[in-house]
Amino acid sequence: MAENGNDAPSGDAQSKFIRVFEGDVPSVPPMWFMRQAGRYLPEYRELRSKAGSFLDLCYNSDLAAEVTLQPVRRFDLDAAILFADILLIPHALGQDLRFVAGEGPRLSPVVSAGDLDAFRQCDIHPTLSPVYETVAKTKAELGADKALIGFAGAPWTVATYMLAGGPMKDPASLRRRFYEENDFITGLIDVLCEKTVEYLIKQIDAGADAVQLFDTWASGLPWPVLEAVSVKPLEHIANQIKKARPGVPVILFPKGVGEKLGEYALIRNCDGVGIDYAMDPSWARTHLPGRVVVQGGLDPLLVVAGGKEMERAAETYLKLFHDVPYIFNLGHGFIPETPPENVAALVKFVRSYNG
Ligand code: CP3
Repeated sequence: MAENGNDAPSGDAQSKFIRVFEGDVPSVPPMWFMRQAGRYLPEYRELRSKAGSFLDLCYNSDLAAEVTLQPVRRFDLDAAILFADILLIPHALGQDLRFVAGEGPRLSPVVSAGDLDAFRQCDIHPTLSPVYETVAKTKAELGADKALIGFAGAPWTVATYMLAGGPMKDPASLRRRFYEENDFITGLIDVLCEKTVEYLIKQIDAGADAVQLFDTWASGLPWPVLEAVSVKPLEHIANQIKKARPGVPVILFPKGVGEKLGEYALIRNCDGVGIDYAMDPSWARTHLPGRVVVQGGLDPLLVVAGGKEMERAAETYLKLFHDVPYIFNLGHGFIPETPPENVAALVKFVRSYNG
């Protein structure tokens, strides 16, 4: 067995990450981490301080490719995730975007029904072309044994930021708007669906091997609303991507949806689902269809804590999913306080685990 737990001979054309989507069950699952690039890494902080703003970094393809590769080099992970942000689509649609230290993203002006026509006609690619260049540059640097994951925000999560002008502080008011201004909210989600499909196809054409959709704010919605704003739009996106670029795995990560995750796993063109840290992994193992690859689950705060507690929890996932295609990952992204040594210890534990 190769040092990274890879059973296949080195030089294999398909990466270990992609092979699990073809039914492969390696003795050690492929591994990457949400928010694996970012402020917890000293090399990121150093580069970030030279780059100017966070957005400058996202649109500087040389630096963004370097940041994408940093965690893969440091921890020898099986996949890189494009360094960008889910809010680049609103930015490309004309919203002003700033990241205010300690407060998070700020988007202005807040969108309204009158904006939809302009959004529909907007060509997002001139703004987003540096992102496609980041994909191409990263892909050229990555070994053939590593996969490159492209991504976008799910329409609902992106819409929450566009409608609130930043992080959604009052979920009830947005839910109420879904009922009171249904045409507008549905129209916004439809436009975001179309733009997201275009954006992901460009990432795939630039070299992304798989794509993931993050629906961070899908939690807490009554079923018919969840179905309308999250499940159906993600199904539409998965179908369009599969039609345009068959063979590229589509992973859905709707956070906090509990057992409704089963509805996403039923989407014919959904190849993988992310499980969040609140999800009981035994439920996922028993109830999700075997056709769909399960990814993730580990509470990112366990990697802040480190030690035996982290290892015991990692073991739970390794044991439960040892005989099915599984991707080791977190149940949400790393937080900036994560000690890189704990990440290294986690990688070592997973690679040497012999259940
Ligand atoms: O390593 C990776 O995972 C790839 C890059 C990535 C970033 N954001 C970089 C980033 C990805 C996949 C995202 C997704 C993202 N962005 C989501 C969905 C996943 C999730 O975490 O729930 C959301 C909701 C966003 C929106 C966003 N962008 C927020 C809420 C923030 C935090 C603001 C803050 O200041 O803490 C960002 C900024 C951001 N995106 C950073 C990074 C590395 C930190 C910016 C910095 O360096 O200052």
